[in-house]
Amino acid sequence: MASVLILNGPNLNLLGTRQPEVYGKTTLSDVEALCAAEAARLGLEVQFAQSNHEGALIELIHEARSRHAGIVLNAGAYTHTSIALMDAIASVELPVVEVHLSNIHARESFRHRSYIAPVAIGQICGFGAHGYVLALQALQHRLVS
Ligand code: DQA
Repeated sequence: MASVLILNGPNLNLLGTRQPEVYGKTTLSDVEALCAAEAARLGLEVQFAQSNHEGALIELIHEARSRHAGIVLNAGAYTHTSIALMDAIASVELPVVEVHLSNIHARESFRHRSYIAPVAIGQICGFGAHGYVLALQALQHRLVS
């Protein structure tokens, strides 16, 4: 069974209470449960991880190379700043689906730029927690085709 890493970056541990008008009331545990249910339906194994630290996220991406077939990544604000995360993804050569709860293109201009997008197979944003479900479906489709 193929395994997928679902990786969340800074401040996403606060989902549910963090700016609910932007990110909704769904908690990260709720997202994890949604992903577990969808993964079971798709016949995927999933590992869930979150860190507020750029270096820790990079190490999890490096480790994914030998453990996982792909990554669903919400890098939070590092999306818009981190060349190091972009390089880590390019280095491990795993398919990555970029996810954002909010529609980053409809928000402040500094959120329009993603350093993840050029090294991801695609980007899903604006669908709230359901975006993770869509990302798992997209990744599974890529893994079997
Ligand atoms: C986010 C969007 C980012 O711009 C922001 O910094 C986040 C969350 C999202 O899921 O909508 O932390 O990645």
